[in-house]
Amino acid sequence: MENLEEQIIQANSLDALERVRIELFGKKGALAVEFAKLKDVPGAEKKAFAEGLNTTKTHLQKVYDECYESLKKAEIERLLKAEAIDVSLYNNLNAKGALHPVMSTMDKIIDYFVALNFSIEDGPKVEDDFHNFEALNLPKNHPARDMQDTFFFHDGAVLRTHTSPVQIRTMLQQQPPIRMIAPGAVFRKDYDITHTPMFHQVEGLVVDAKDEVSFANLKSMMADFLHYMFGEVEVRFRPSFFPFTEPSAEVDISCIFCEGKGCRVCSHTGWLEVLGCGIVDPNVFKAVKYKNVSGYAFGLGVERFAMLLHKIPDLRMLFEGDTRLLEQFR
Ligand code: DAH
Repeated sequence: MENLEEQIIQANSLDALERVRIELFGKKGALAVEFAKLKDVPGAEKKAFAEGLNTTKTHLQKVYDECYESLKKAEIERLLKAEAIDVSLYNNLNAKGALHPVMSTMDKIIDYFVALNFSIEDGPKVEDDFHNFEALNLPKNHPARDMQDTFFFHDGAVLRTHTSPVQIRTMLQQQPPIRMIAPGAVFRKDYDITHTPMFHQVEGLVVDAKDEVSFANLKSMMADFLHYMFGEVEVRFRPSFFPFTEPSAEVDISCIFCEGKGCRVCSHTGWLEVLGCGIVDPNVFKAVKYKNVSGYAFGLGVERFAMLLHKIPDLRMLFEGDTRLLEQFR
């Protein structure tokens, strides 16, 4: 047994110690072999034999724990030394910071709507089911809830999957007329070249008296907004579906990479989808107890706009924080 203790003490790395642990304490280890002998020990001696073994085991465990702690500590110290950064070392005191392209794109979008007297509204990122789904005409068993891969908390709260819940919050707090946008981060369980689990949207909502707000208003505003963002592009409206608007449309611009001729970015269609919009569904107004009103709403993804504006090929680049990308936006 002394030999076993010696083995533990001589392990000079966590790996070596792990090998010794398996040899000693493992299912087929030295201790297990000793314990297996118990069945052949004559009855009268069993108790003493077992007690002896248990004492040894406890002792070896203690020696092992001590060795583990000290090796672990040495390992952490080694890592800290190896990875230390000398913060007093700098090579460019004049380097200036800059707005991240996502934020500058957001600012550009916000500027457009602020100039038209829209208010900027905010809401919580941890939302409840009512604001994120229910009041937006997405009842519990509605199949459209599947459109969104939601992060749920145990108590049923969610990380908001879109900025649309801010529409609901604003309507519950204010009376029409309303002209608002809601910029902010949203969250979905998604990760690939065109999706990240956190991204940004800008939501818009206009509500006024019955018959005051029409699809024609929405259409002209979206077209003007897209020309402001992207310059001389074609804008087209495609019928679509969102639970909170009816009728709904998705809006495309002619591809800014190939000018509509067809390329890899626009999947050879000549068009790029840039936002969703529509006339507010009566069920949404019912949920916030608005009567005799009309309205339109829209929502867009800020990263997508930033990628198109700056011709950034992979969405994930916007989140890697690589200074070689960021330096180009100083
Ligand atoms: N909430 C939608 C989404 O996350 C975007 C959207 C589409 C918002 C149409 C709207 C709208 O207000 O009218 O995909």
